[in-house]
Amino acid sequence: MEKLLIKGGKSLSGKISCSGAKNAALPMIAATILCDDKVVLKNLPYLQDITTMFELLGSMGSEILLDENMDFTISSANLKDIEARYELVKTMRASILVLGPLLSKYGKARIALPGGCAIGSRPVNFHLDALKQMGASITLRNGYIEANASQLNGANIKFEGVTVTGTENLMMAATLAKGQTILTNVAKEPEIADLADMLNSMGAKISGAGTDKIVIDGVDKLKGTIFDIPADRIEAGTYLVAAAVTKGSITIDGINPNRLMKVIDKLRAAGAEIDYNEDSISINMKLEFPNPVDITTAPFPEFPTDMQAQFSVINAISSGTANIYETVFENRFMHILELNRMGCDISVKGNHAVIQGVKSIYGAQVMATDLRASASLILAGLCAEGETVVDRIYHIDRGYERIEEKLNYLGANIIRLPS
Ligand code: EPU
Repeated sequence: MEKLLIKGGKSLSGKISCSGAKNAALPMIAATILCDDKVVLKNLPYLQDITTMFELLGSMGSEILLDENMDFTISSANLKDIEARYELVKTMRASILVLGPLLSKYGKARIALPGGCAIGSRPVNFHLDALKQMGASITLRNGYIEANASQLNGANIKFEGVTVTGTENLMMAATLAKGQTILTNVAKEPEIADLADMLNSMGAKISGAGTDKIVIDGVDKLKGTIFDIPADRIEAGTYLVAAAVTKGSITIDGINPNRLMKVIDKLRAAGAEIDYNEDSISINMKLEFPNPVDITTAPFPEFPTDMQAQFSVINAISSGTANIYETVFENRFMHILELNRMGCDISVKGNHAVIQGVKSIYGAQVMATDLRASASLILAGLCAEGETVVDRIYHIDRGYERIEEKLNYLGANIIRLPS
């Protein structure tokens, strides 16, 4: 397995661009199932999760072409198969995103039931309950979700809990349903509004995405589109933290700061100077030790769970004590044990971490357990004394495009060690 070797202690400076957002791209690739025309997606990030999603569509019969501009043309007309096999679903839970489109367009779907994962049990009951309210019959058999619906009907659905991919699945399913669907208690993440923009450009009738209530008027057919994937707010946030923990000064281009306001607020509270315009953010960290910042994760527009592990590192080298409450996933503190092996002083009880800042941390051999946990270990390596080796970095390649290249461009010293 490949590893990253990080020589710590370099202050980051310079300018980089954000890649396309993984969590916007994945539902958009699934949405191509909804029409028979070609769909062109631009600015797709080069990531393992994107490859897995293409593998899934390819296994069902989609044709995927990459041109010289690195744009992908996807043609999902007349799929020969409507199944997401366990071998793919087990490597990427977001495979569940094909359920809504398959059911809406083909009236049936067979999707391996995703199991738990490193960050929590992550059930999909909210997706299934909502699809049932639209008239789908759903059976769980041999580890698979078997869903059928000769016609999905519009419905008034209040989600039992806020779910990002659940909201996306239902929004996609409702585009071709008969009549109007009203979704409430929905997720408001920017990626929801991005998906609605793409679906509307295909002829869907969706309003309210990004607010508490989404209204979808079903249409008979969707058409092809050309769509640009927006920038990845979590990637941008991660690089801002990289600057904050290395007393750095960097600019990230191509990112809308409105998508990161809670993160920007917390970075300012940690002592960083931040400037932004409509599509770029600059950070300058002058403090020797960041101020401790308390964090409580919650659905957008609150502080994102996907930035929690990265802020653990800011707090680990801060001048005081901070509290982090993880309210979205029940097991998202796996990085803490590894951070403590690097000299951090963090204790965890349930969903609450108490982080006592220390004057310095040191390099160690550490193991990545999930995507954002891996990011936090790399950030810790950047500000640690000596060398850090991060093992199992396939987790990082699922969600960060060329992370060591981008960080090295900013002055870091990271080498990818072959298997
Ligand atoms: N939940 C249920 N039942 C459901 C669905 C969700 O109980 O049917 C619970 C989950 O177990 C969790 C909470 O609701 O405790 C929120 O989960 P959600 O469904 O919103 O998460 P998701 O859609 O599976 C997406 C992102 C995650 C991100 C979360 C929260 C994608 C592909 N994934 O996951 O991204 O952490 O929303 O913002 O969009 C990542 O990029 O590293 C990542 C994990």
